[in-house]
Amino acid sequence: MNTVLITGCSSGYGLETARYFHAQGWNVIATMRTPREGILPPSARMHVLPLDVTRPESIADALEMAGPIDVLVNNAGIGVVGAFEATPMAHIRKVFETNTFGVMAVCQAAIPMFRARKSGVIVNVTSSVTLAPMPLAAAYTASKQAIEGFTGSLAHELAYFGVRAKLVEPGYAPTTRFSQNTEVRLEDLIPESYAGFAEPILEGFATPALVTKEQDVAEAIWRAAGDLTGQLRFPAGLDAVALAAA
Ligand SMILES: NC(=O)c1ccc[n+]([C@@H]2O[C@H](COP(=O)([O-])OP(=O)(O)OC[C@H]3O[C@@H](n4cnc5c(N)ncnc54)[C@H](OP(=O)(O)O)[C@@H]3O)[C@@H](O)[C@H]2O)c1
Repeated sequence: MNTVLITGCSSGYGLETARYFHAQGWNVIATMRTPREGILPPSARMHVLPLDVTRPESIADALEMAGPIDVLVNNAGIGVVGAFEATPMAHIRKVFETNTFGVMAVCQAAIPMFRARKSGVIVNVTSSVTLAPMPLAAAYTASKQAIEGFTGSLAHELAYFGVRAKLVEPGYAPTTRFSQNTEVRLEDLIPESYAGFAEPILEGFATPALVTKEQDVAEAIWRAAGDLTGQLRFPAGLDAVALAAA
């Protein structure tokens, strides 16, 4: 039976992806910073483990407890919306610690196992902002763009060992916790001088024309994990697919 390990399963895309792989008959290791009871189907094929991607010992412990895995999904991430000049450098570093260095650290810990087994897939979840950068999301976009380049390079490097690396690029899902997942207040990150510019953009976030559903992302991760062609990027959701086509 195939095994997937997913980061950031407490909500949103990660939670839905854990449910999706489980429904396909996979063994699922659903990791969370703080494990929550009752949100995933009770099953002998569903295992919840603690994993904080910013803590090396937490990554090592989770991978050791998980044992051999076939697919690693780096989904955990945090967002930040605001004018770049008003975003504290400490917060920008925090975004990179999770979205960029956290992903790299989990990959680095898992690659020796994949290399030794001469198989495996790494699926890194970025964002459609890498297809078309958005205003008021410069730090976030940069953190995800770094993972695009990283994964493209890794795909070449690991192909030699029979290991694949893929990108899933979700569009915007107003239904997830993502937009509130920041410790800095939006109003502090939009200075008065930006108000006229920011207002219509923030309104657009609240009422998007096209949205990504959690299931779109789970399904794209599933397709990426099973893909045997050289395709690197998998846009997920109607808005992301439209951006990729444009
Ligand atoms: N929603 C969108 O519009 C959107 C669009 C494009 C891409 N994405 C990307 O999709 C991924 C999932 O986002 P989502 O929309 O599902 O948001 P979400 O509901 O906020 O889920 C994010 C998950 O990441 C976890 N997380 C945060 N920091 C972590 C850390 N240090 N270690 C481990 N887990 C951590 C959160 O756990 P806690 O419960 O512990 O906070 C949560 O489980 C992210 O990479 C995000 O950048 C989202």
